[in-house]
Parts: sequence; C-alpha cells; structure tokens
Amino acid sequence: MILHDRELLRTFPVVDFASLVPDRPIWSSSVLSDMAPVVINRDSGRVFYDMCAHRKAAILNGASQDRARLRCPYHGWTFGEDDSCPNGVLSPVDHVPLGGLTLLTADAARLDPDEMEDLVAVFDQFRWADIKPLARRTYSVPSHWSYWVENFLECYHCSFNHPQLCTVENHIAASSGGNFSALGDFYNAAGRELASMGAHRPLTTDWDPDSAVPAFIDFNTLVKEHGAATQSGEPLGPPIAFNQHSHVFYYGAVGPFFHFSLYSDHLFLTNFHPIGPSETRIDCCWMAHKNSTSTEDEAIWLWENTMLQDIELVTRLHVGRSRFPQESPVFLDSEEQSASFHEWIKGLPKGDISTDR
Ligand code: FES
Ligand SMILES: [Fe+2]
Repeated sequence: MILHDRELLRTFPVVDFASLVPDRPIWSSSVLSDMAPVVINRDSGRVFYDMCAHRKAAILNGASQDRARLRCPYHGWTFGEDDSCPNGVLSPVDHVPLGGLTLLTADAARLDPDEMEDLVAVFDQFRWADIKPLARRTYSVPSHWSYWVENFLECYHCSFNHPQLCTVENHIAASSGGNFSALGDFYNAAGRELASMGAHRPLTTDWDPDSAVPAFIDFNTLVKEHGAATQSGEPLGPPIAFNQHSHVFYYGAVGPFFHFSLYSDHLFLTNFHPIGPSETRIDCCWMAHKNSTSTEDEAIWLWENTMLQDIELVTRLHVGRSRFPQESPVFLDSEEQSASFHEWIKGLPKGDISTDR
C-alpha cells in the first residue's frame, strides 16, 4: 500500500472496476490490485479509505474480507456496515455513480456539474447489468504521471506510432494518410449516426483548464470496413449500448487519472496511479457483454499494443528531457487538449501532486 497514493486520491478521482465483479466479497478493495487504497462495502455501497481508525494502518491492503465486520489485522478492531467500532470510525470517500461504475473522489463538489451530466448521459446508455470485466493489465512506467496524461490527450503522435490504431479508428487512419480534410467528415458522420440512434451527443468535448477537475467526452467513428475495434474486425460480444453495434465510439477523461474509450461492444477503462515523482502505474480494464466468448488476447489487442508503444515512445524520447511546465512547448491545433492540460497543470498547488518532473 502506498501512502502517497492516499494523498492523491484526495485530489483526483479514479474509477472502481471491481463493482462489476460478480460474487464479490462483502468488503473489497476498489480494484483487484492494491493500488487504490479504499475499501467498499458490497451491501451498503459505502466507500472508505483503507485506513484504520486506530493507528491508521491499512486494513485490506488490496485484499478482501467476506465477513460482516471488517477486521483490522493490526490490533483486531472491527468495523460494521455503519463504519464504526466502539473507539472510532472509518474515513468516508465520496463515490459518484457513472453508469455501472463508481467514481471514487475525495470531494465530489469539485466535479463540474455540467461536464458530469454530459458524461453520465453517455455512460447511462450502456447496459451495465449485462457487462463483465474481460481482462486486466497493469503497466509500470518510470516517470511522473503528467507525461502520460499529456500523451493520452493528443492524437497527433498516433499516426506515426500506433499501427493497430491506424487500422481501426477513422480519424487516425485519415491522418496517417495525410487526408486531413476528411477529419471533419468523420466527425459529422459520427454526429449523424448518434442522432439516428437517438444516442446522446456530448457537448463538453474539451479539457477545460478552468475546471478544478476537468471532465470531457468526445466521439468519432471506426473504420467502416473494420466493424469493431478488434484485430478481426468482429465485435467482442453482443452489443452493450444503443441496442445495436455501431461505428461510433466515445472517449474522454474525468480528471487526469481516469480515461476511457467506449465502443458498442466493449469498454476500455484506465486509471493512472501516481506512485511517486518518477513512478506511475497504469491500471487498465477491458469489459464486454457477459455472454462474450472472446479471449483476453482478442480483447486487449488494440490497447495493449497501443499502451506498450506509448510506454516505449514516451520513455525513450520524452521522459526527463522536458521540464514541465517551466519550459514552454509548442502545441498545434491538433494538440488542443494537451495545450489545455498544460495550462491547467500550471495552476495546481505544489506538494503531493508536484508538477516537477
Ligand atoms: S491500527 Fe487497526 S486496530 Fe490498531
Ligand atoms: Fe499514444
């Protein structure tokens, strides 16, 4: 368990993947690994820091307990569903529903209500009762978290570095072919497809540097000949949104740590966990319809390859070579989100989420 991570959770949200795991124990950690230091009570839905009321020791430490009262292994204090024991109480964490997921945050009041309303409208379109986690992967990268967030927010590098993505997503494929005039056409086609399905068209499509915790959601289309974001072009299972398979997909983020791509057949969800100034873990989860018979390899093909390409690229060429935000990079229009992120991060307080890298 990492104390530093506790401090960061007080600042920016991450999402709980484990809430969709069937038959979970009564008390479980927020994720299947030990990175998000909270415990969740299955029956009440309440969430607490994984921190004993006594001497502030970790209680679950990434594990789980299938018993009515949560027991601290240090001196044996036990806590009921109401979070209390005779000598103290657990510290609650705010939890915000996002479709069938749970957004964990220290202070839900810092979320922008308009941006969250837009996200909730999209996430609510998915049939969460029919969705199961299909695969999990954790990547460890040797650098400050801001490199990875900055990289995630722009597609400019994709056509040079992500061959799988080039075969699947229209705007990346067009850029790699130098066909920039097509980009607006794809976006308009995606908007028309959303309208024809009666699906929600997001408005908050940009990272707002003035939000305390920016959230945005945007959309685009898959390459038509490629029916799904998979190597075979076949969907990973029955549709989980819109009641049909669609070429439209959504992508976006809530704060700097939770990022997502939502396809009509599966979801790719990512939490960044800053471990220290020069270590970040990236925890990824793929989800699909509960009747999916796809293998893990089929599920992770696109984003596992893309993640590994980004890790190699950014580690080799960028980490330690730029000092953010003391030096001023140049951002083109196609890097608008990263430019806004750059503005936003300059306003962060120094300290646990130090911008020194
Ligand atoms: S620290 Fe938990 S019982 Fe003492
Ligand atoms: Fe990338």
